[in-house]
Amino acid sequence: GKVCLAYSGGLDTSIILAWLLEQGYEVVAFLANIGQEEDFEAAREKALKIGATKFIVSDVRKEFVEEVLFPAVQVNAIYENVYLLGTSLARPVIAKAQIEVAEQEGCFAVAHGCTGKGNDQVRFELSFYALKPDVVCIAPWRDPEFFERFAGRNDLLNYAAEKDIPVAQTKAKPWSTDENMAHISFEAGILEDPNTTPPKDMWKLTVDPEDAPDKPEFFDVYFEKGKPVKLVLEDKTEVTDPVEIFLTANAIARRNGVGRIDIVENRFIGIKSRGCYETPGLTLLRTTHIDLEGLTVDREVRSIRDTFVTPTYSKLLYNGLYFTPEGEYVRTMIQPSQNTVNGVVRAKAYKGNVYNLGRYSETEKLYDATESSMDELTGFHPQEAGGFITTQAIRIKKYGESVREKGEF
Ligand code: ARG
Ligand code: SIN
Repeated sequence: GKVCLAYSGGLDTSIILAWLLEQGYEVVAFLANIGQEEDFEAAREKALKIGATKFIVSDVRKEFVEEVLFPAVQVNAIYENVYLLGTSLARPVIAKAQIEVAEQEGCFAVAHGCTGKGNDQVRFELSFYALKPDVVCIAPWRDPEFFERFAGRNDLLNYAAEKDIPVAQTKAKPWSTDENMAHISFEAGILEDPNTTPPKDMWKLTVDPEDAPDKPEFFDVYFEKGKPVKLVLEDKTEVTDPVEIFLTANAIARRNGVGRIDIVENRFIGIKSRGCYETPGLTLLRTTHIDLEGLTVDREVRSIRDTFVTPTYSKLLYNGLYFTPEGEYVRTMIQPSQNTVNGVVRAKAYKGNVYNLGRYSETEKLYDATESSMDELTGFHPQEAGGFITTQAIRIKKYGESVREKGEF
């Protein structure tokens, strides 16, 4: 039968491709263009040379930005307070494109090179099963026949030599990466010791904040219903296409060292894992979006969204539950919180940070400068706040009495 393999052009998936052929399968190699910097032509040549029947690239960049990244900006998605979910966000889009290719090519199975200890195997396979419930998943790194044979990198290299698989001359980097338009991840290898500081040259997408320009870079982000719709640069260039907005946000953030993190996170399966991530443009857009919400979103709407929607959606993204009943349900909760998020944030990027410098909205009137002013007595009358405090204090006085009785204050 035919198998559709998620193929990257790297050593692991090249070995998997050769091994699948050895098992008697016909293999369609699939590669998603999700904005990673990669030589797609070299991957094509390599896949076909190893023996794939076909090599298919699906360009999913637009869908990634419009369907997944912008909603993530709207909901301020974040996992464990720090991780902007760069890898997690890409998985549903890649899985969907892979299933489309598998169906169109008549493949009964899909295969991937994820390890048996990670999140990605869960994310890919749960997505595959939702999108094509009868599909067969082949995960060589969970198959003893495979992982016992290829226990170390040398086994992989020997097999590559035996099968005449070209191995890139560049010395393998001592960590594993995953890249897309939103981010790059670095994990494993020397990073497995959480107390090992990564070498300066590991970072790929952003300059070291210490080496970033000494001059701040100014820009304005326009939002409509919580989605970025325009980016205006220092030289007044205006960018309005969604993919271009995202790429331009990346460019500003990258050259100013914005979006690096180094963390230890909790994987879905229960393992702790150390990861270093660069998420430039998404960090910039999230920071400015949150700022505009301060001006334009009702307090209680924001509180309910922050308490229930943001953490729930972030966790289900992390855990690979995008194509699920709860995923569908929680996604419908994002837009209603964003109808008032219309306006502009003026900001600057400078040495690793994004600073919000001002914000305004032509349409939203929740913020009333007169009402908030310390110099104005019109509108809201300060004496009315006295009654508010008296009422709020009813139960607090009761509490105070009982604590004093116990002598605990
Ligand atoms: N730990 C991150 C996550 O689970 C990054 C995973 C990177 N995946 C990879 N195949 N290298 O989202
Ligand atoms: C992998 O294990 O294949 C990569 C890391 C992860 O999925 O968490």
